[in-house]
Amino acid sequence: MGTPARGSVVAAVDQGTTGTTVCLLDRDATVVGRGYTEIHPQFPRPGWVEQDPEELWRSVVDTVAAALADAGRRPADLAALGITNQRETTVVWERSSSAPVGPAIVWQDRRTAARCERLAADGHAGTVGARTGLVLDPYFSATKIGWILDRDPALRRRAGRGELAFGTVDSWLVWKLTAGAVHVTDVTNASRTLLLDLAAAAWAPDMLDLFDVPAELLPDVVPSSRVYAETDPDAFLGVRIPVAAAVGDQQAALFAQGCVEAGQAKNTYGTGSFVLVNTGTAVPPPQSSLLRTIAYQLDGEPVRYALEGAILSTGAAVGWLRDSLGVIRDAAETADLAASLPGNDGVYFVPALTGLGAPHWDPRARGTLLGITRGTGRAHLARAVLEGIAYRTRDVVEAMAAAGFAVRELRADGGAARNPWLMQFQADMLGVDVDVPDNIESTALGSAYLAGLATGFFTDPAALAAHRRSERRYHPAMPADRRDRAYRRWRSAVDRARDWADD
Ligand code: G3P
Repeated sequence: MGTPARGSVVAAVDQGTTGTTVCLLDRDATVVGRGYTEIHPQFPRPGWVEQDPEELWRSVVDTVAAALADAGRRPADLAALGITNQRETTVVWERSSSAPVGPAIVWQDRRTAARCERLAADGHAGTVGARTGLVLDPYFSATKIGWILDRDPALRRRAGRGELAFGTVDSWLVWKLTAGAVHVTDVTNASRTLLLDLAAAAWAPDMLDLFDVPAELLPDVVPSSRVYAETDPDAFLGVRIPVAAAVGDQQAALFAQGCVEAGQAKNTYGTGSFVLVNTGTAVPPPQSSLLRTIAYQLDGEPVRYALEGAILSTGAAVGWLRDSLGVIRDAAETADLAASLPGNDGVYFVPALTGLGAPHWDPRARGTLLGITRGTGRAHLARAVLEGIAYRTRDVVEAMAAAGFAVRELRADGGAARNPWLMQFQADMLGVDVDVPDNIESTALGSAYLAGLATGFFTDPAALAAHRRSERRYHPAMPADRRDRAYRRWRSAVDRARDWADD
């Protein structure tokens, strides 16, 4: 804890896959201002997803300014700033100029699938899993770094000479906020790179060798909640503000959902969906299909761990219905469309738009729609997409139960937590209550809490956890035989979605 902060609000910057959200919280942890800026990813080839790192950075400054205007406050009113971010997305930049050497390669990008397959065929999956808690999948940062350096031998030479820096989005934003004064990444983001020794919470030399990543590229690993540095006034709204938290978005949501005791679980419904269960301070036992990851670390406290079921594409499938097919105008419409049908009429959708994550781990799986007849309409499509999101959640919740972490209640957040049809179907499909808090922007709240704790703006982690208010609780209502029959059909649809992409 630092000395009490002077400003009246703490800013949470949530830099996500499709947009940047900023929330301003006052000392009662009430949101008093908000801003949002859309981000425009590029899809240059099938399976490739890129972003412009400068667009990410500009969006942060613009969105903090918009949130301040919304709250009627000035930059000098900021007591601290916390970052939460899309994880795994990989940026490499030149230290001297802060210029990125190319686009950010986004977590959804599948271009390194063949590299991961080669490493697995060479027998490395076991060591990688034991050391990092992760699986050999293009989702994570290490093979993305390799791709950037292998594209241009000059870049690899420069990396070895210490002229370049790698960071996930937290690291890039802290660098830009401080005009290059610090090059850090927090433990949660570091635990998504395939380069961190999970037990030691430090870079793993054997993984750096395996993925051929020069140590000179890497940021220092720091706790999720600590004053790393102050903003540079020339870079950030003319003020010096403590940058006091960095945390992966899913881990931030876990913290804000009050899942601070071992066994508590949340699911955030965003571009993808990510179920995390807090497993406490001991490293969780090795898993074959779930990820072991760092949940968060308060300054001066031990690292806490989580098991994660990463479902790579869920809200992205709703976005596809809206933006690519035009069958809905906004995501909320899907609830009424789904409810307009008494059942799914045998139409199933596997949302493997960027491959399948946990527990299947198939980067070559692709989105699959089964059971279409002449009578299939847009309501069926909407319902199949929502059902697919709920079935994918059951996939990972079943894997958690098999690993000894049965989910007894699921705390839901993210945009789709406002979709009542989906939440009811989710409770039905899991057979446990789904609880939705009054503020579903848990990711932003989490980083604000962590930044506030580091600066003395907030003083009591337990009070913050208790701040969560349940707004609506969904109880399972579907008979078990009906639920299990639907889920079995879904699993046979998953078999058909597998191993489809041939590039
Ligand atoms: O691991 C990827 C995850 O952090 C992205 O989250 O909210 O941008 O979909 P989101």
